Amino acid sequence: MFNIKIPQNRLRKLRTFGLGKKVFEFTNDKETNLIDLCSNDYFGLSRDKDIIKAAYETSLSQGLGSGSSRFISGTREVHQLLENELAEWLNQDKVLLFPSGYQANIAAVQALANRKSIVIADKLIHNSLLTGVRASGAKLIRFLHNNPRDLKLKLSNFSNKAKSILVIVESLYSMEGTLAPLKEIISICQEYKAELLVDEAHALGIAGTDGKGLCNEFPKSVTMISGTLGKSFGSGGAFLACKEVLGEKLIQNSDPFRYTTALSPSLTAGALKALEKIKYSNWGLELLDLSKKWRDEIIKIGKFKVQGDCHILSIIIGDENETLRFQEYLEKKGFLAIAIRPPTVQIGKSRIRITIRKTFNQEILNKFIEALKSYK
Ligand SMILES: Cc1ncc(COP(=O)(O)O)c(C=O)c1O
Repeated sequence: MFNIKIPQNRLRKLRTFGLGKKVFEFTNDKETNLIDLCSNDYFGLSRDKDIIKAAYETSLSQGLGSGSSRFISGTREVHQLLENELAEWLNQDKVLLFPSGYQANIAAVQALANRKSIVIADKLIHNSLLTGVRASGAKLIRFLHNNPRDLKLKLSNFSNKAKSILVIVESLYSMEGTLAPLKEIISICQEYKAELLVDEAHALGIAGTDGKGLCNEFPKSVTMISGTLGKSFGSGGAFLACKEVLGEKLIQNSDPFRYTTALSPSLTAGALKALEKIKYSNWGLELLDLSKKWRDEIIKIGKFKVQGDCHILSIIIGDENETLRFQEYLEKKGFLAIAIRPPTVQIGKSRIRITIRKTFNQEILNKFIEALKSYK
């Protein structure tokens, strides 16, 4: 029953970075250190002293964990503060926190679709959203990645075949680094009266005006926004943002919201501090500029296919074993850049996905380019 039927070359190993020999660091000043090129801690906020202080002080006063669900005794003032601040920042009526983005996405799909619905989703949406669709019982139809024309075709074929239609996209795709053509997607959804769920996990803090994500440019046109606090916010947990009535539906009906221990007060306080910093910074634009510089330099080498519009850059290799060999080579050169392989990406599209972070200096870029140039 517990036999694992996975080919040898696809078996994953859990490795520790940050303890012992391999030290998780931003610089490479010790021989054993690796420069982490794959973390989603885009602004380095997980190590920000003010944020850690806020989390620590909240832990001391309110406990490390919340101790129970939001409806029992798990709700703290800091949860409500963060929910209100996020709602104001994103110009949304209601924000609800979740312990993780994975869970928030399951809750989002379950709130917007059921077994009488059809979900039309971009081919490359995150696994958590697909789990949500399965949990909802809705029929799933996929449209070609970032292809509004195919979305329209699928909507015209299926919109009168179900009681409700939900379209799901990410605003900035986690493995491709591509931005969704959100304006067109919104207008097609409106034409076919479909609800729209947008996962902004990788865009928040970075893309859109003042880093508020892509949905912010289209106030009230998106049915629900999902965001995580474990990436650019450097903390943990996640949230859903929506109109008041839908927020109330989540509070009253959402099992992933009510039957789980509330997000820890310390992570919540850390995220609140991170929001304060992100709000008054220009970090999103700075990171996009820096990412363009990295992308241009890698392309200039002339031997790599690079994908990605923002700070997520995928160097497409194709073959799985070759991608693993590339990963090992980069590790020898002092970089932690993990091979992304099927089933996370399609067969033949294995890649090294790198994430550009605010803490990267010119020295790191030079070293990486040198490593790429000498790869055979
Ligand atoms: C697009 C996307 N959505 C959701 C999630 C899940 O977020 P979390 O890590 O907070 O569970 C991730 C994380 O990998 C993601 O990339």
